[in-house]
Amino acid sequence: MKPNMSLDELLEAVERNAALPDELAEATPPQVYTSREFLELELDEIFNHEWFCVGREDEFANPGDYRTTTIGRDPVIVLRDRDGVLRAMSNICRHRMATLLEGSGNLKGRISCPYHAWTYNLDGQLIGAAHMRDNFDKKEVCLPQFQVEVWQGWVYVSLDPHASPLAARLQVLSDRIANYRLPEYKTLFRAEEIWDTNWKILAQNFTEGYHLFVAHAKTIEPAMPTKLANALYGGDAFSLYEQGRVPGQSYERSSEMTVDNPLLTEDERNKAVLFGIFPSHVVSITAERTFWLSLQPYGTDKVKVFWGADVFPGSVPEEAEARSAYVAELKAGFDRINDEDKPIIGSIAQNAKALAAQPGRLSPKERTIWNFQQYLARQLCRKRPREG
Ligand SMILES: [Fe+2]
Repeated sequence: MKPNMSLDELLEAVERNAALPDELAEATPPQVYTSREFLELELDEIFNHEWFCVGREDEFANPGDYRTTTIGRDPVIVLRDRDGVLRAMSNICRHRMATLLEGSGNLKGRISCPYHAWTYNLDGQLIGAAHMRDNFDKKEVCLPQFQVEVWQGWVYVSLDPHASPLAARLQVLSDRIANYRLPEYKTLFRAEEIWDTNWKILAQNFTEGYHLFVAHAKTIEPAMPTKLANALYGGDAFSLYEQGRVPGQSYERSSEMTVDNPLLTEDERNKAVLFGIFPSHVVSITAERTFWLSLQPYGTDKVKVFWGADVFPGSVPEEAEARSAYVAELKAGFDRINDEDKPIIGSIAQNAKALAAQPGRLSPKERTIWNFQQYLARQLCRKRPREG
């Protein structure tokens, strides 16, 4: 690849890469991971418009429950208001643009800016502003509101008021995973981290089973071997792969779990279903648990990773001590997997800058990557008016 290619040349390379047939598919052109201009285009064309996972609905069970997050360049508050409405709104004060809230928890009172105490109701309406003139009408000031949608128990937010509903795009996937009864899964734990890689490298890594027999040889492979990884084709809105399990084996827990879900077939019990909700929610589900990551870029070679696991009701001990021991074991299991991936996908982000970096042919077990590359090309290449 030419170093210093222009954005237009890079987009042409992205289009050529996406146009390759399945049997000739190749890995992503390296500048897609390293170009600052490409990242700005992604923020404009993808992150300002698409749906992003901000947690599960049961994390916002009570009025006042909130979490702050960032979508693209925008700080966002997600909360349940006093009337029970699940909302997403800007986390930027309408006065001097300071950040209003940090972290997550339960809001007992209003939202009050830490700078000059402009104060908002949980629906975003300004209700307090000290030392202002009589000509200032608080009623005219409200925090910008964003779209919220719940799919399979996950809460998604889009900054774009015209974003088309997510559920309709994911109908094929919803039908396929219906028996797992995902809306009933309950939150087990959440974590937030920054990893040293490009967001797309991590999204691609999570949704391919080709590397299990090498990078996770002693952890995932004995329970979910690469030879049982079946990469399918999701289409426009998601990537999909089904991962066979070895009965009785698990990489994340030592105890046997019983799942009382009569809808599940034997085949469904004996596999994990992995999918990437484009662009950046990557998920692994089994009969007993989820394991998922929601990604936001943080520069070209860092990514914000909001991740966690949820469990099918009744499959985890109710008693507090046994439950927390289970949570600790499961999280440690996933941490181990993440720690196996981090140095490898970190090296890709660095090597993508190298003169000799060149993408190679993909395995059929990486069909999900080909699928993702087509999504990127659709989002970034069509909309951009070309010079000349
Ligand atoms: Fe991995």
